[in-house]
Amino acid sequence: MSNTQRHTCPAVRTAMFPHDMNGSGRIFGGVILSHIDIAGWATCRKVCSHRFVTVFFKSVEFKKPVFVNDILTCWAEVTKIGRTSVSTHIWVEVERDGQFIPVTEGEAIYVAVDDDDKPLVVETALTEYGKSLLRKQRRAEAKAKAQAARAGQPSDDGEKGSDGATTGDAQASGSASGVHPERDTDGSGAATVKTSGSSRKAKRRRQKGSCDC
Ligand SMILES: CC(C)(COP(=O)(O)OP(=O)(O)OC[C@H]1O[C@@H](n2cnc3c(N)ncnc32)[C@H](O)[C@@H]1OP(=O)(O)O)[C@@H](O)C(=O)NCCC(=O)NCCS
Repeated sequence: MSNTQRHTCPAVRTAMFPHDMNGSGRIFGGVILSHIDIAGWATCRKVCSHRFVTVFFKSVEFKKPVFVNDILTCWAEVTKIGRTSVSTHIWVEVERDGQFIPVTEGEAIYVAVDDDDKPLVVETALTEYGKSLLRKQRRAEAKAKAQAARAGQPSDDGEKGSDGATTGDAQASGSASGVHPERDTDGSGAATVKTSGSSRKAKRRRQKGSCDC
């Protein structure tokens, strides 16, 4: 299996059992959150070999219920490599009666830490894959700055950490804005992030439930 294929594999794939159920016969949201957490964390480890802790969950949306016997798959993608943090986007779907149903989606941020739980600079331990993502992110940042300069606008690099933009097909200031990558929730046009996980190819891959390996 090539590295490219490996990076398109699901981060978590597991079955839902009766002990995961809440009183209304559905899988407890906390169980799904824990799988989301593991998926985001595993994706951080693909880009950097430091130890990571979860610092922030945001915009987790439970769209559809999950039931016992569903096979749950989490796809995860790094959306931003920060100075000491890595932001991720996670898509959860279940396989039920031969169908793939998107059930939950969210974002989570992780911080690289040392043995004393103090933040560590991510760039000091990037994997080859992480390095390629960071190069892509910096190209996107430079492009956004150039576009902003041409338009006579101040560039949007005021975020904490100088590493700026996002990975994937990111176009500008990054997911730390808290805006859902695929949705401009406030109509301000601030949702400038388009992760490669939202590309048609990635969506097709998730719909097929395939990971090419
Ligand atoms: C994660 C932790 C080490 C961060 O320590 P800290 O002193 O707050 O660190 P900093 O303020 O220097 O922030 C470190 C990074 O986290 C990011 N961060 C911190 N709080 C954040 C928040 N609420 N939302 C988003 N990002 C946040 C910062 O932006 C920074 O990222 P950057 O370096 O890429 O710019 C500390 O908060 C902690 O130990 N939290 C508990 C983690 C935990 O137990 N998780 C659950 C089990 S894994």
